[in-house]
Amino acid sequence: MRPQDLIEKKRDGKELTRDEIAFLIRGYTRDEIPDYQMAAWLMAGFLRGLSDAETQALVEEMLHSGEVLTHDHVPLPKVDKHSTGGVGDKTSLVIGPAAAACGVAVPMISGRALAHTGGTLDKLEAIPGFRTNLTLAEFRDMLARCGISLIGQTKEIAPADRKLYALRDLTATVPFRPFMCASIMSKKMAEGIDGLVLDVKTGNGAFMRAYEDSLKLAEMMASVGRALGKRVVGLITDMNQPLGRWVGNAVETREAIECLQGQLDGDFAELCLELAAQMLLVGGVVTDWAEARQRIREAIVSGAALEKFRVCIELQDGDPRVCDDLNVLPQAGQSHTITAAQTGFVSGIETDEIGRIVMDWGGGRRRLEDKIDYGVGLYLHAKLGDEVQAGAPLVTAYYNDEARLAEMTARVRAAYQLTETKPAAQPLIKKII
Ligand code: URA
Repeated sequence: MRPQDLIEKKRDGKELTRDEIAFLIRGYTRDEIPDYQMAAWLMAGFLRGLSDAETQALVEEMLHSGEVLTHDHVPLPKVDKHSTGGVGDKTSLVIGPAAAACGVAVPMISGRALAHTGGTLDKLEAIPGFRTNLTLAEFRDMLARCGISLIGQTKEIAPADRKLYALRDLTATVPFRPFMCASIMSKKMAEGIDGLVLDVKTGNGAFMRAYEDSLKLAEMMASVGRALGKRVVGLITDMNQPLGRWVGNAVETREAIECLQGQLDGDFAELCLELAAQMLLVGGVVTDWAEARQRIREAIVSGAALEKFRVCIELQDGDPRVCDDLNVLPQAGQSHTITAAQTGFVSGIETDEIGRIVMDWGGGRRRLEDKIDYGVGLYLHAKLGDEVQAGAPLVTAYYNDEARLAEMTARVRAAYQLTETKPAAQPLIKKII
């Protein structure tokens, strides 16, 4: 078998066999197939499509490209949550500790910022000292001691995805259902979980912008997970505006801790309550939805969830004082409030552009090796449906690179669409499958 024959086969729209997919994934993981050939195959797959059988084969090959963990030493249901990527999405920092405080073990392996979307790892690493590169032994030990461990992808777990994820990012092949399904499910199935809650974003800040595409992605991932014997729930959630008020790294960590401190208003807290409740249901800790929501709410209001996060931070070498003193987080040196140029209702926000503004100002990375400026962030005074007067605050920017202020101000203003009529409110959670 030669890679070029499999590129040709996919280029011509033919279906690859299980053995052929295995040849590609194993060869690429072992560095026997070079990036340029894999990139060509990815683009051929992107343009020609993959069958269900090819997708299942891809998931299983990527899953078995490394270790598949088990956690028999932890006598609790193991449940994780995964989001397909959005802007302002810091739910993992809240729901992991909240679900763990309610009796679910959460072995969470997260990613870094990708394209315009943020990454949980970068938000955690904004906490001084926090170490996400635990060894697998440390990861498993943490899970037993604390009920939650938050780490990044390791070279042992789904190494095929580690390489492919970076290659897809550079070859414009990220927003394709079979690749996203294989990427997400291979990592998640290797974590040693019994169940998974999927948060599939839809809208102008998501990789899948159209609702129908997001629904199909959720269904594809759920059926792949269920075929592997896991309990899977998928939520289709709105990403037509950033989640919560803050976009950045340290600023989102701040917002997550404020939520754990009991600030339960707004879309961000609402999504946290729902996702964490679904984790309890998937884990079988409770069977009733209202009770699951109540348990999570109580875990937050009582401080138990914040306490869980504090222990997790401490065990992962971070500074736990952050739970009481948010000034421990890195802060940008400058701030500037951008005001509305006209009066109107906010009827649209270019969510991906908001993510790109933060990235371009230093809060994200263009390449994996780029350094992040953790303090950079935007605070959104106005969200969809809000009425703003000309001259009223739209967004406050926190930054270090003063030279880009004029450009960024123009970009923020252009990302907001103001109209005379109030737009109809859209549900945050569009469907649960
Ligand atoms: N998140 C992932 O883990 N993989 C993708 O392909 C997209 C989002």
